[in-house]
Amino acid sequence: MNNIFDLSGKVVLVMGGSGNLGTAEVDALADFGATVFSVHLQDEQSDNETRANVIHISADFSDSAQHSAVFERIAKEYGRIDVLINNAAYGGGSGGKGLNLEIENFDDEAWEMGMEGNLGLTFRSIRAAIPLMKEKGGSIINIASMYGVVSPDPSIYGDTGNNSPVTYGVSKAGVLQLTRYAGAHLAKLGIRVNAITPGPFPNEKTLANAEFAQKLADKTMLKRVGQRGEIKGAIVLLASDASSFMTGSNVTVDGGWTAW
Ligand SMILES: NC(=O)c1ccc[n+]([C@@H]2O[C@H](COP(=O)([O-])OP(=O)(O)OC[C@H]3O[C@@H](n4cnc5c(N)ncnc54)[C@H](O)[C@@H]3O)[C@@H](O)[C@H]2O)c1
Repeated sequence: MNNIFDLSGKVVLVMGGSGNLGTAEVDALADFGATVFSVHLQDEQSDNETRANVIHISADFSDSAQHSAVFERIAKEYGRIDVLINNAAYGGGSGGKGLNLEIENFDDEAWEMGMEGNLGLTFRSIRAAIPLMKEKGGSIINIASMYGVVSPDPSIYGDTGNNSPVTYGVSKAGVLQLTRYAGAHLAKLGIRVNAITPGPFPNEKTLANAEFAQKLADKTMLKRVGQRGEIKGAIVLLASDASSFMTGSNVTVDGGWTAW
């Protein structure tokens, strides 16, 4: 029987592949046979550092020359990208500038950085991938967030330092719309574009605050937070031929957070 989830021979680019969710995404893609380029900030190490079919590249996407160089390198080495995963985020929501600022004190610079680090980066990466996908088609997966669908509830955050700035959810909502727009307009090139909307997948630092982690768990229907490996199924589905009739869609992996 053919394995519809098989990724053998696929060239996959994961933007931000060494963080909390990115590490699990890279592992799943490599497990299913893909050659994976994992691009991340320089000082970051991950468990999959030594896997044979994972190629690590250091780059800072806030520098457009470094961003372009990633696509140029893959063009030179492989001539194509089969799957692009827009997982990286900076400028707020992942520990960047702007975190915890109230709307009335949120300055223009923090707004622009927050929007660029999610929505702008996703747009720039889709644009850069098109020339490398249009000959053979491909799959683009945009990582959005539950906060692109519903607002954070400020009452659960208090002074934890984990508060989500205004730009985070606004830009993630934009990522969902960009997914639909790009899906509609790139279908003629054989490029499918889908989103994944993760719910709470706290990292170890956040989990150390057990009281706050419990508040996150209580917001889900399943009454627990996500384990990062639980993102793998959606990633392999959307990267592979198993999703060949899916485009413009949003696969929600949030324990039910946004459904009630
Ligand atoms: N963890 C969650 O609970 C959660 C929930 C909803 C959505 N998300 C989304 O999932 C994605 C991954 O989240 P995470 O929790 O794994 O984040 P993370 O901070 O652990 O990892 C982010 C990754 O992006 C890379 N990165 C950040 N800034 C970069 C830059 N300027 N240049 C190059 N690479 C850069 C980092 O090196 C890292 O590999 C993000 O888009 C995030 O918004 C996460």
